[in-house]
Amino acid sequence: LTQNALQELSQIDNPDELEQWRVRILGRRGELTGILRGLAQLDLEERRQVGALGNQAKAALEEGLEKRGRDISEARLAQVADLERIDVTLPGRPVATGRLHPTTQVLREITDAFVAMGFSIVEGPEVEWDHYNFEMLNIPQGHPARDMWNTLWVDYPMLLRTHTSPMQARVMESVQPPVRVIVPGKCYRYEATDATHEWHFYQVEGLAVDEGITFADLKGTLYEFARRLFGTERKVRFRCDYFPFVEPGVDMSIDCFSCSGWIEIMGAGMVHPRVLAGVGYDPEKYTGFAFGLGPERIAMLKYGIDDIRHFYSNDLRFLRQF
Ligand code: PHE
Repeated sequence: LTQNALQELSQIDNPDELEQWRVRILGRRGELTGILRGLAQLDLEERRQVGALGNQAKAALEEGLEKRGRDISEARLAQVADLERIDVTLPGRPVATGRLHPTTQVLREITDAFVAMGFSIVEGPEVEWDHYNFEMLNIPQGHPARDMWNTLWVDYPMLLRTHTSPMQARVMESVQPPVRVIVPGKCYRYEATDATHEWHFYQVEGLAVDEGITFADLKGTLYEFARRLFGTERKVRFRCDYFPFVEPGVDMSIDCFSCSGWIEIMGAGMVHPRVLAGVGYDPEKYTGFAFGLGPERIAMLKYGIDDIRHFYSNDLRFLRQF
């Protein structure tokens, strides 16, 4: 029995089989235990001899069991150590960090520049009423200028704002002059997209209303803004433009290195007297200027991006560059 059992034992290489072996040989119903229990039926002399042999066998088997158990667990440890060995001299794996979207970065630069000039930041709703998006801006029902803003209607008279200009009226309704605010936010237009047009984009609206504000203040403020964002080397151009809520109206462009031409970055002008009167300001007493600029276009100029559609296509190869 001992020989056989030890022979079996030497073949075992895992803890489960080892336990089965122990139960079978040394367990309470085990083979050796059975023999030792049978001793009671023998006479004294036989009992002594067989008992001594039995105990020797038991000791040998127990020792064998213990040794085999040790060997198995050592082999396991060695295997695990080999598999999971850590080379502490290897360089670490880089952790992928997130970053701010280029639009967010440029928005912060733009708002910082105007905050430094004394403007405060306000925000407004993206779902807007026809009333604020058009009516209060001197663009009544049926006015041909409505065609300038291809509108995504939610449910008439509710729409997705086509520009941040409705906040001009909302701000002036709620405070008395002097007003100096900028309004960063998203806008939407029902438009075909191309390299410089998206159906969804940001604007930063600006509005300053006070006694004695002139067109020179508008130009001075916007020149200073361009200087802060682009440095003194970039050229700035104003041209006459038409927006129903300003008079006179202009647009401002920056010379574009990468496209050898001009890129228009904003519309601006002196707040139309009708808009002032509409919110209850006295147009004889107060004047003001307003502007609406496009952060994506500014980012394109700053970073040499050739297509506005990169911004919101979520291509990480693009986004990781900023
Ligand atoms: N809201 C105009 C647009 O989206 C831009 C603008 C703003 C023009 C303020 C003049 C004054 O095109």
